[in-house]
Amino acid sequence: MDKYIIDGGKKLYGTVNLQGAKNSVLPLLAGSILTDKPVKIRRVPMISDVENMLRILIELGCKAERDGDCTMIDSANAVSHELPARLTKELRSSVFMLGSVLTRFRRAKIAYPGGCDIGLRPIDLHLKGLQRLGVKIVEENGFISCSADVLKGAEILLDFPSVGATENIILAAVKAEGRTLIRNAAKEPEIVDLQNFLNAMGAKVQGAGGSTIVIDGVKKLHGVEYEAMCDRIEAGTFLIAAATCGGEIETKGLNSENIAALLHKLSENGCKIYTKNDRIILSSTGRLKATDIVETMPFPGFPTDLQAQYSALCCTASGTSLVVENLFETRYKYAAQLKRMGADITVRGRTAVIRGVEKLRGASVTAEDLRGGAALVIAALKAEGKSTVLDLSYVDRGYSEFEHKLKKLGAQIKRVRV
Ligand code: UD1
Repeated sequence: MDKYIIDGGKKLYGTVNLQGAKNSVLPLLAGSILTDKPVKIRRVPMISDVENMLRILIELGCKAERDGDCTMIDSANAVSHELPARLTKELRSSVFMLGSVLTRFRRAKIAYPGGCDIGLRPIDLHLKGLQRLGVKIVEENGFISCSADVLKGAEILLDFPSVGATENIILAAVKAEGRTLIRNAAKEPEIVDLQNFLNAMGAKVQGAGGSTIVIDGVKKLHGVEYEAMCDRIEAGTFLIAAATCGGEIETKGLNSENIAALLHKLSENGCKIYTKNDRIILSSTGRLKATDIVETMPFPGFPTDLQAQYSALCCTASGTSLVVENLFETRYKYAAQLKRMGADITVRGRTAVIRGVEKLRGASVTAEDLRGGAALVIAALKAEGKSTVLDLSYVDRGYSEFEHKLKKLGAQIKRVRV
């Protein structure tokens, strides 16, 4: 497994061209089989989660081709409604395929999905929503089989604004008979991107970004050429890295409203932030002060996907930070690794108390999930001396050209292929 060797202590300067959003592209790819016409998606990041999604589409009988960051899906010859177990176990987002495969074949079979091990990640809300649309569900031997002769629009109230459940229900409802209403829908920007993509294919979806989404079923969807939105979590990761290490960087491609909660915290930490259109410029002395409490929340709250990276920042901010993880149970695995670098972190249940230390020192640490891996890289960039970050398979799930982009900013980082 590849590893990074990082020589810490360098400030970061320069511009980051953002990749397409992982969490947008995955549901867009799932949605590509709603039509039998070609679908072209631009700004698709080269990450292993995307590779896995493409493999799933190919196993269903689709043609998938990549040309740089442009991906073409032709599902005219798609035949299978069974999602390959060995791939779906690796990729939790494969669960979104349930909605679109059902729309296409009236049947879908999937193994219980995988993804990063960050706690219990049930899919009860997905299944309840699909049942409301008339889907019959049988769970047996680790597989979920769904069928519906007719998908019928319905009113669905989500107990919790789950991102995946909202997307899955939209994908099942776009060609259902009549109107579907999702109340307490997730408001994440990636859901707006999915709405825009589907509407560009001829669907009638409204209200994404708010808590009620209305979907009027249409008979047919056509092919489309669509550019995915930029990745707000990648942007946040680079901004946190520059805030922690000091320097001045600019991210290009993302409107600041998409990560307002993070920017608000970073300015409380003492960073200077300037935003205009799709540019965010951050400058930092690298000597930050702690803000008292950060709690992860559904959008527009502080994103859980930036919790680990932000905790890495807190390690050397002067004062005590309290981090509360409200979405997933075991999202502090990286804390034990940061302690090896000299961080003072105490985790109790969903809360981490981080007392800022003067310095982190280089150490050998191991990534155990995607965002935790990014947090270790940030800490290593800040630390004095050399660090090794082991097991890059997690980081590779979500960041394309991570080390190249960091190197361009002045970081001393190299990938060693093992
Ligand atoms: C998506 C993102 C992930 C992000 C998360 C929260 C993608 C591919 N992944 O994941 O990066 O961390 O949103 O912003 O977009 N829940 C249930 N039952 C369900 C579904 C969810 O109880 O049926 C709970 C989960 O256990 C969790 C919470 O709802 O506590 C949030 O999950 P959800 O919003 O569904 O996250 P994902 O769609 O899995």
